[in-house]
Parts: sequence; C-alpha cells; structure tokens
Amino acid sequence: MSEQATELTANENGHVLDLIAGEIEEGNGFISFERFMELALYHPQLGYYTKNIKRVGKDADFITSVSVGKCYGLILAHHFSTILKTFSNFSKEVVVVELGAENGDLALDIMGELSMLLSKELFERLNYIIVEPFSLKRQALKARLSSERIGNISVISDLEKENNLYGVLIGNEVLDALPFRRVRLRDKKWMELGVGINRDGEKKKLIEAEKCIQNESLISRVADFPKELPDGFTAEVNINFKQLLSGISSSFVKLEGYFVDYGSSHDELMDLSRSEGTVRAYSGHQYVKNVLLSPGFNDITCNVDFDWFRASAKEHEFITNEPIDQYRFLTNAAEPWLLQIEKSGIQNVENMKLINQFKMLIHPTTMGRAFKVLKFQK
Ligand SMILES: C[S@@+](CC[C@H](N)C(=O)[O-])C[C@H]1O[C@@H](n2cnc3c(N)ncnc32)[C@H](O)[C@@H]1O
Repeated sequence: MSEQATELTANENGHVLDLIAGEIEEGNGFISFERFMELALYHPQLGYYTKNIKRVGKDADFITSVSVGKCYGLILAHHFSTILKTFSNFSKEVVVVELGAENGDLALDIMGELSMLLSKELFERLNYIIVEPFSLKRQALKARLSSERIGNISVISDLEKENNLYGVLIGNEVLDALPFRRVRLRDKKWMELGVGINRDGEKKKLIEAEKCIQNESLISRVADFPKELPDGFTAEVNINFKQLLSGISSSFVKLEGYFVDYGSSHDELMDLSRSEGTVRAYSGHQYVKNVLLSPGFNDITCNVDFDWFRASAKEHEFITNEPIDQYRFLTNAAEPWLLQIEKSGIQNVENMKLINQFKMLIHPTTMGRAFKVLKFQK
C-alpha cells in the first residue's frame, strides 16, 4: 500500500465515494476490490483508517486484543523479553517492530513492562519501531508517544531504510486489514470480482462487477484452487503478502515475528459453507453485509488464508509454524506474568482487572479461539 499512489487523487473536501466513482468511470466501469479497499480504508485523508476518528474499542467500531486492556501487552512483553535477551548476545541493538500500531497503546504497554523486565543496560539498547505508512497517523502517533517518554520509540513510514535488525515483530489484526482481491467462478473459469457503479441521475450506487483476470499473481493463485467448486463460488486472495514479507525479510538478520489474526486454512476457505467468501464490514460493533455500502465509514476485512501467508513466507525463506489459538499461545506465554501477579496479590484491584482481561483474551467463546497466532522466523 502506498500513500503516494493515492495522493494523486486526494481531495480533502470530497467524499471517498466520489473518488471511487471517478476511478470506476476512468476504468471503464471497473476497479479491483483491492483498489476499492485502498481508497475506502487508506485514502490519505478520507480513508476509514486514516481519518482522525476512534475505530477500536468498546465505544467505537470493533474491539481487538489490544483494546481489551494492558494485559495483552504485558504478556507479550514477558514473551518478547526472553527473545530479546537471546538476540542481544549477537547484536548491539535489538528491536521490537510493530505494524498497525493504530493509537500506540500496545507500544506503551509493551515498553512499560519491558522497562521493568530487562536490565537498564539492555533496555537502553532496545528500539521500539512502529511502522505506519500514513503521514496523518504518524503525526498523531508521534504526538501521543512524545508525551509518554518510555524508552526509545520511533515511528517510521516503512522498513525500507532499516537493515541489520535483530528482534521481534508484532502485527495484531494487520493481515486482515491489508487490501485484497476477490474472485468468482463463472462457467468453470475464475473471474476477478471488482467494483462497478450504477448511476441514477445524481445518485450513485456501487455494485459488484466481474472481469477476466489480468493480474499474473492472481492468475497463478487461482490455478491452485480446487477444481470441483460450484458456479458462483467466491473467494478472497491477498496478492500483497509477498511484498510485505520481502520488506520484513530484507530488514532483519534475525527475527521472531508474530501475526495475530482471525483466519482459516486454505481448505476451510474453499469449503462449500464459505461459497460467498468471508469478506465483511464492521461499523459500531455491527456486522455489515454489503461491504460496498459506505466506503470510508466502516472497516472492511476477510479471514486471513494462513496457508497462503505461510507459502509466501517460505518464498522469503522464513520458517513458519502452524497457527495456534490465541488461547494456547497466551496461556503458555503468560506463565511468568501470572506468577508475578500471584506474588503481588491476586485480590489487588488492579490485578483483578488484569485477570478479567486475561479471561476475555483466552476464553474460547470470546477471543481465545477466534484469533490465531502465526509465528514466523529467520
Ligand atoms: C484492525 S486495525 C488493528 C489495530 C491494532 N493493531 C489493534 O490490534 O488494535 C489494522 C491496522 O493496520 C494498519 N495497517 C494496514 N496496513 C498496514 C501496513 N502496510 N503497515 C502498517 N500498518 C498497516 C491500519 O492502519 C490499522 O491501524
């Protein structure tokens, strides 16, 4: 995703729907779903994720493990501290890189805890790097973090200039937010499913539109899809995982990375129960079925295809593990933290709050099973 690519059409007073409609008309009635998402979510001024609004939390559109409270960051800090100590034997500096930091809460929770878990000497050698591609979000993050002053935290636009990194990477609910393509089976042939427009006088309505697939990566991806799917079967494909992983791979010498997200195996996504795909939108904690209805005003997402992500990671010589339930990952990682809590008094009000957050993060009916943790390393 590039800020430059969309800046050309930026119009601060406009509505993102007008920009999308304009591009569809320039594109002879069709834009890819990926391009629709780039504009609806990431237009530099008008996109859902770039606007200055609250998106994550109980009083916003959706919750994430980060927004449940500090607990998530505290457990991750315990887990990361061991890795950072090991890597510090090989490099003067160590890093935690975070993608998709949104308002910076996770960075502050992790760094606050690491400042207590690591020696003063090692904490001074630690850089927490937030990668935020969008300038308005970078400014907001820098303003928030500069008032907190916990260790070395920097906010950069991409990993391009970073190299020789040793450390950890975390992306919580980032993979599902990356723009993806859609495909639909028609008469035994996969077509690209994009976005078109219906105009009725001044009124315009975005609609689904189909076109022969032209993108080479998409052509080679659908060639691997099962042959016996019914006509109309619809699926999502992210052809940008490789680009994301290439940037990460060239920056790190030694990495233990974690993407945490909702997702499925490729076979599960090709199951007949998912014949309409998994694309969906969220607004005010409500599921929105028609994802084309209010561009710029709701989140658009789909289940991550973990097998496809792992195959892309393998091409960049990462070793990946089978994704595990957040429940399993956090209960293992939480052990030292839970022992610490026990020592400081389980009845203490602050600790009781944290334990309640922990229950929410691991409970199978809330977040424990829906979210999976995918580890990749080099
Ligand atoms: C669903 S939100 C999750 C926010 C936060 N990590 C949390 O768990 O509360 C997805 C985030 O990923 C960010 N994002 C999308 N593409 C990105 C990219 N290429 N690099 C870094 N962040 C990205 C979005 O701007 C948004 O902040």
